[in-house]
Amino acid sequence: MAERLQKLIARAGLASRRQAEVWIAEGKVLLNGAVAGLGDRADLAVDQVIVNGQKLSVAEKTVTVLLNKPRGYISTMKDPQGRKLVTDLVTAIPQRLYPVGRLDFNTEGLLLLTNDGDLAQRLSHPSHHVEKTYLVKVRGVLSEEKLLILQQGVQLADGLTLPAEIANVRSGRTSSWFALTIREGRNRQVRRMCESLDLSVVRLKRIRVAFLDLANLPTGQFRILCADEIKKLREL
Ligand code: URA
Repeated sequence: MAERLQKLIARAGLASRRQAEVWIAEGKVLLNGAVAGLGDRADLAVDQVIVNGQKLSVAEKTVTVLLNKPRGYISTMKDPQGRKLVTDLVTAIPQRLYPVGRLDFNTEGLLLLTNDGDLAQRLSHPSHHVEKTYLVKVRGVLSEEKLLILQQGVQLADGLTLPAEIANVRSGRTSSWFALTIREGRNRQVRRMCESLDLSVVRLKRIRVAFLDLANLPTGQFRILCADEIKKLREL
């Protein structure tokens, strides 16, 4: 599909879209051998684009971001119902980023997005057992008995869950909070684990994935992971 040159240049990680427009206006971009103009489009599968003497290749720079997802955003690339998408929160990144796994519409917290297909596959592969910690608020009291079942394994429609860890239990009169660490990423797993014990989840926030946490990142904001973090994620 042909796209505007400034978008292709930005996605390749050479410059921002604005800088790319300046280069086009200055005649520093060639499209199939001729000086390109603003508004020109190209498809790198068939067209040749040269930027400052350098050939633009299809391979784009990989980037991975850590987003603090707010409630009310969907983690798919499109939504037929027109709801807000997590990708709407990372439009400052020129590359097209894909969520690594999913957080439900009403789940908040740590979500990775990347254009690095290899990394995404590694992290979401079921055999990897990457640790994820969730802060869970449920209605009522988390009894000692239910706590033990959550820790030891809950029988769900798709099988018994792996042992989990529970920490920081705080029970009030009407609700309880706890931190639940699981090593699987089944669909709606935490909500289903709680539902199976008649615990109604009123808030769910992912606060940690492996060694990554939200630190002081405000809701709705993201940060780009550094090379060291990417290396550690690959080595998990
Ligand atoms: N478990 C859930 O139930 N929902 C999420 O969004 C993530 C984990």
